Amino acid sequence: MSGFTDDDVVDQSGRTFLVTGANTGLGFETAKVLAARGARVLLGCRSADRAAEAIDKILAGEPDADLAFVELDQGDLASVAAAAEQVAAEPRLDVLVNNAGVMMPPYQLTEDGFESQFGVNHLGTFALTALLLPKLAEHDEARVVVTSSLAHRGSRIHFDDIDAAGGYNAQDRYGQSKLANLLFTYELDRRLDAGGSSTIAVACHPGIADTDLARHLPAFIRFGVPLLRPFFNSAAAGAWPTLMAATGDVDGGTYIGPSKRGETAGPAVIVRSSSTSRNTELARRLWDLSVELTGVDPGI
Ligand SMILES: NC(=O)c1ccc[n+]([C@@H]2O[C@H](COP(=O)([O-])OP(=O)(O)OC[C@H]3O[C@@H](n4cnc5c(N)ncnc54)[C@H](OP(=O)(O)O)[C@@H]3O)[C@@H](O)[C@H]2O)c1
Repeated sequence: MSGFTDDDVVDQSGRTFLVTGANTGLGFETAKVLAARGARVLLGCRSADRAAEAIDKILAGEPDADLAFVELDQGDLASVAAAAEQVAAEPRLDVLVNNAGVMMPPYQLTEDGFESQFGVNHLGTFALTALLLPKLAEHDEARVVVTSSLAHRGSRIHFDDIDAAGGYNAQDRYGQSKLANLLFTYELDRRLDAGGSSTIAVACHPGIADTDLARHLPAFIRFGVPLLRPFFNSAAAGAWPTLMAATGDVDGGTYIGPSKRGETAGPAVIVRSSSTSRNTELARRLWDLSVELTGVDPGI
């Protein structure tokens, strides 16, 4: 297989996608392509202004694009619940693209008191997905997509200190959140399948893509980024795995990533994630913890 690119996204007329973190980076590129293929795209963003700018940019190229803003701060479970309520009032939801994320910010807590990377990247995703499962189930062959990272490799879930109160290593906690994304996706897909649902869950990662994600990295690394640019995926190419996961002919529980240079760049294909990410016992433990922390139970 030569790999999936935006050219492989077929017509999506009549389908509705919620893309989180759609105002910039991979989320923006994903929203743009989906809108160009005729989908209704809901942009789940924490800033109304940044969402409006993104909508204007998409409309400049696709004047007929069907777009709407959904206010969503994944670091605030009340905001997640309000966003889910707004989306539930839509005529339909076919695909939830969980893309929003933060990488290596200074130590901080979410509104609900969780370490921010675990809180935003995993718990926000978990709660939003759980709240939208009934909406997705209204139509056959709905899909949940979750964006992980190469950084999931070599990571672990710190069940003994989930909020990093005992010491914060930003890189380690980013890896934890991206491992959690995969454990959650695979467990979700297993539970949906066991319950006879036609909704599937698919994971993806963009390799290394040129986006705003590095905003929290030290200045000396950020200044080096232009030199490394030729080796990165553009943001548009980084969205190919997301687009394949969201629209391609793939099975639930699949992991999609770039095909070239050690999964850092190139067209999207099915790739493998770490054995830890496929550990079912770990996944169940994380699921139970996520229900306890968020107070949201997917009920599956
Ligand atoms: N770029 C890469 O090389 C790479 C590699 C591996 C994985 N990823 C993953 O890809 C996903 C997208 O990242 P990106 O590279 O496109 O980064 P980005 O350009 O920084 O975009 C991240 C998006 O997430 C949003 N976001 C952050 N915190 C949020 C919150 N609390 N609530 C709602 N939205 C929030 C951001 O909104 P604001 O603009 O308002 O901050 C932005 O729209 C992330 O999950 C990331 O972990 C990226």
